[in-house]
Amino acid sequence: MKIILNINNLRKILKPFNDIGFIPTMGGIHKGHISLINKSIKFNKKTIVSIFVNPKQFNDIKDFEKYPNQRDSDIRKLYDKEVDYIFVPEEDYIYPNAGTETILPNEIGRVLEGYSRPGHFEGVLTVVKRLFDLIQPSYSVFGKKDAQQLFLIKNMI
Ligand code: PAF
Repeated sequence: MKIILNINNLRKILKPFNDIGFIPTMGGIHKGHISLINKSIKFNKKTIVSIFVNPKQFNDIKDFEKYPNQRDSDIRKLYDKEVDYIFVPEEDYIYPNAGTETILPNEIGRVLEGYSRPGHFEGVLTVVKRLFDLIQPSYSVFGKKDAQQLFLIKNMI
């Protein structure tokens, strides 16, 4: 397992593999994540997990500031799993000054949770798209618990 902060060499290393599984997370690794990771390991030659607490999906900055940063313990939890890479980018790598594409959800992203947390799904889709662009996975595994998020991500893909 390798911990990577940027994807500079990763693309070259991954080029020969057609089946690269990717699991984006905001850390706080739990059993649910592990089952997504195991699924990816079963079906892919390489599995990458990202840990990035995405400020753009918090509509209240206080929630972002309070969000637990458990990076070290998360890495320890993943250490004995067969994860090939853990991608732990800094914020300015994901959101460089030059800007990134913002992805707006369709109308489904403006009801239910999208209604009570304005901007939330825009932040989710924007970061997932950015991570996909960087990692270029063949497969990505998401939990079904957040059905609205899953629907919007599928729609974006
Ligand atoms: O479900 C999550 O943990 C996050 O919304 C995701 C998909 C990792 C994007 O930050």
